[in-house]
Amino acid sequence: MCGIVGYIGNKSASDIILAGLKALEYRGYDSAGIALLDKQAHGHLLKQVGRVDGLALLLQESQLPLASIAIGHTRWATHGKPSILNAHPHANQEQTIFVVHNGIIENYVELSEGLQKHGYSFVSDTDTEVIPHLIDFYYRELHDFEKAFEKALGDLSGAYAIAAINAYEPEKLFVARLSSPLVLGEGKDEYIVASDPTAIMAHTKQVIFLQDNEVAVITPKGYALRDLKARQKVLRQAERLDYDIDQIALGTFPHFMLKEIFEAPQTIRLASAGRTNIDTHSVKLGGLEGVAEQLQHIDRIVIVACGTASYAGMIGEYLIEELAGIPVEVQIGSEFKYRKEPFSRGTALIAVSQSGETADTIAAVKKAQQYGALCLGVVNAVGSTVARMTDAGVYCHAGTEQAVASTKAFIAQVVVLLQIGLMLGRGKSPLYNDLLREIEALPDKAETVLKLASSIKKLAGKYKNYKDFLFIGRRYAYPTALEGTLKLKECALIHAEGYAAGEMKHGPLSLIDESFPTFALAGDGPMYAKTCANIEEIKTRGGPVIVIATEGNRTIKKVVDDVIYIPKTLEQTEPILMAIVMQLFAYYMAIGKGFNVDRPRNLAKSVTVE
Ligand code: M6R
Repeated sequence: MCGIVGYIGNKSASDIILAGLKALEYRGYDSAGIALLDKQAHGHLLKQVGRVDGLALLLQESQLPLASIAIGHTRWATHGKPSILNAHPHANQEQTIFVVHNGIIENYVELSEGLQKHGYSFVSDTDTEVIPHLIDFYYRELHDFEKAFEKALGDLSGAYAIAAINAYEPEKLFVARLSSPLVLGEGKDEYIVASDPTAIMAHTKQVIFLQDNEVAVITPKGYALRDLKARQKVLRQAERLDYDIDQIALGTFPHFMLKEIFEAPQTIRLASAGRTNIDTHSVKLGGLEGVAEQLQHIDRIVIVACGTASYAGMIGEYLIEELAGIPVEVQIGSEFKYRKEPFSRGTALIAVSQSGETADTIAAVKKAQQYGALCLGVVNAVGSTVARMTDAGVYCHAGTEQAVASTKAFIAQVVVLLQIGLMLGRGKSPLYNDLLREIEALPDKAETVLKLASSIKKLAGKYKNYKDFLFIGRRYAYPTALEGTLKLKECALIHAEGYAAGEMKHGPLSLIDESFPTFALAGDGPMYAKTCANIEEIKTRGGPVIVIATEGNRTIKKVVDDVIYIPKTLEQTEPILMAIVMQLFAYYMAIGKGFNVDRPRNLAKSVTVE
């Protein structure tokens, strides 16, 4: 949700900012901008509506002077529509102070009213614009940029990651963080600050993660960190981040979404490598060993997540309850934070998040921490906020996910939650060994599903003009169906409803006619016959039906319009194979409509605002 990059050092700052913005574009892509200071400390500002490539062209045409300090921003609009005036960086009237911001300043109306009384005028509809004016206001009083910056931060409420440059102290880059991610990369006589490491890794792997309430003043030779709340210096050395830069390259794939769907087999392998072993009948989750004793005393689990991660969480709910006998409840982050619910010490929270930066999920963890609850993370992005703030956790190891639609991370989340269920069940479940065996068999089965890509493409061609879809399933296939709807909505911009198949007769069946196709998830499990009955009810009312069934099921073919066969697996692991089918379907539907599948309209990858 908005990408920030800042640079100070001995290279061309604008080149580094542009490359960084390109890497962060998945966080927001409705407008982009850059501000730099030339050798005479004059500020130059360029902004435009649209993608970073457009900004690069503009920069080329404008022939701005070389600079060794600059900040840049790629935006996902919250306050004010995408426009040049609303794009970041924002500046004070004299254009001597430039700011980029990710987050939301909740008290911006009061602040701007106060500033207007002092003669400040505003040109944008954004909340961010108050920041450079506020710094300007305090700078006039204090004549010290660092003090003015800190004083301005003290007035802000909400969430922010901020980078600022100014003409008064042009050899310093100022940054701050409160509830929005910010990471500092340390090179030789240079620093790059960014919303996440993807913008930094091409230059250095030595990074310093800023924590809430911290401010850093950065020069090419070093940085000084301060905790504003504790009013003290912070000493934190750079740490080395393991990161494979190749992961963020497209390779031979036309889109990141397709590349990431095709990484499913490897994702399953990486999520289970060294963790589950059928030969030794063991599940070993190193990240949870430190809290093993506490885990023995929990009597309830709340899984908190958003979007796709919440559907993986729902599958986790079924898995943990069945395999470990512990009651589990899934709540979406944005609701959890504001609910008034009893939360006993025996309840553990599991936050599931690909990015580890989702504001609603972070808020949920903070709330559970106030209850004194054990907080665990199932996180993909190494070193992210959720990973750092939870007591313990299990990384998904899916690698960087670039496409806005989450695909391989969902697969990894389900695998990890399955492993957590097996571990918490301590071998008691009759399914224990079968599932351990199946985890090892799954990568090959995922390969088999991927071979169906061309037939799924044809199917998408057949259904591409339908405007509404229904997705149904029972038990494990129910949250899987919900995930199918989300993929279709966000990628192909098609209305889709997800229902527990048994719930159709309680209302939604009235929607069904020949214009409303159903995607039915009818795997091999104990719910197969009941799901078939629901399929019949839909067919009887003229609704076209596409079914995901297991290989060898010849009867279903006679009843429905289209069948996609996945390899036989256990009911508990069917969601993984079914998800791949639905991801491919959504991908080809989006491509068929000519949409930008990696960057769907109105969305961003990392949702760092509430
Ligand atoms: O990074 P997270 O897993 O916390 O993100 C949660 C959701 O924002 C995310 O899954 C979103 O729903 C995706 N666009 C779904 O494809």
